[in-house]
Amino acid sequence: MDWLVWIPAFVGHVGICSFFFNRTHATAWPQFWRKLIEKIVVLGSAFPLLALPIWLWISGSVSFFAQVQASWLLAAYLWFCVAASVFFLVTWLWRINHYRVPQTWQNRGSEVIDAERELKTRLTHGLLAQTLRWFPGNEATKISFDDYRISLRKIPQGSQLKICQITDLHLTGQIDVAYFRLLVERVNRWQPDLVFVTGDIVDEPHCLDWIPSIFEPLRAKVGKYYILGNHDRRIRPESELRKRLVATGLTRVAGEWLMVDTEAGTLALAGNELPWFAGAEALQPLPGQTDCIRILLTHSPDQIEWAKQFGFDLIFAGHTHGGQIRLPIFGPMICPSRYGVRYASGPFQVGSGLMHVSRGISGDRPIRIKCPPEVGFFTLVSPVPESQADG
Ligand SMILES: [Fe+2]
Repeated sequence: MDWLVWIPAFVGHVGICSFFFNRTHATAWPQFWRKLIEKIVVLGSAFPLLALPIWLWISGSVSFFAQVQASWLLAAYLWFCVAASVFFLVTWLWRINHYRVPQTWQNRGSEVIDAERELKTRLTHGLLAQTLRWFPGNEATKISFDDYRISLRKIPQGSQLKICQITDLHLTGQIDVAYFRLLVERVNRWQPDLVFVTGDIVDEPHCLDWIPSIFEPLRAKVGKYYILGNHDRRIRPESELRKRLVATGLTRVAGEWLMVDTEAGTLALAGNELPWFAGAEALQPLPGQTDCIRILLTHSPDQIEWAKQFGFDLIFAGHTHGGQIRLPIFGPMICPSRYGVRYASGPFQVGSGLMHVSRGISGDRPIRIKCPPEVGFFTLVSPVPESQADG
């Protein structure tokens, strides 16, 4: 019978640990403190799993559960965890029951490539990456090119706009530069009008030298634009990173509207790098420009409430990596967001607009289970007229 209490208590305990992990990683706290909390949480969540068999072994026939019950403090925490497991289960059921794919959104399928097979070479470097590559189901060196269609009333009939989103490259040296060059080659084949790079580009300073070979060949008919993310703070000064990105033809989108003319109409682009880099606070509402397509590039989906005041038609976000590891049935557990795993990845309705949160391409730990790296291909089209839809 102990297990009937122990299992939900353990689930609740892991849920509490991931709750704190996710929220602290959504802040702009210094990396040292976030990493320290991460280690405490990882050890803390693993402790009961390790402690239980050890304790049973040491104590012989004495029940671990009985030992816990003997201490009022441990017993209180045990039952708190049981209650937490019920809370997490209810909120999870509520979330999956209330989620609706936006009506303007259409998933047209994915092409997944194995980059190591394509390039006929091993792409992982360093002890961590070489170890993780053997983890069963690790998809860190694959790339999923996901094809989406979005209906937007502001797109004229017969026109379309092709947008590619690349985010969370996390250039660390653990995944070879050839992987990113292959990715860019495939993006160029799709011939996008615009490319958006939405942050977490470079983790390690020595990878700054990779920037020209990755981003200079990247082609976009109208333009390519970028914002930075939290991991880009590891490059000091960050102006060096921005300078190198701009030298490849990328344009920074920050605290003011950038008006961009396309064959499908005028775009009003804005960027948000909060809470890690200032700039977005200065953005003012766009007066009298109701016809232009308002697009936001934001590293974190946590800026969703800030975004609502500007009436964006489309929001492109990254940062959460889709959780990187997705459990069967339950999905992701770890997601650096104040909303937990709610905006881990996928399309979400935001007022009359739409937010897409990308799974991103990589991470500082190259592991992905049931969460392949994503390059998003978005084709914006006019909605089908009702008369044609009926026919
Ligand atoms: Fe990231």
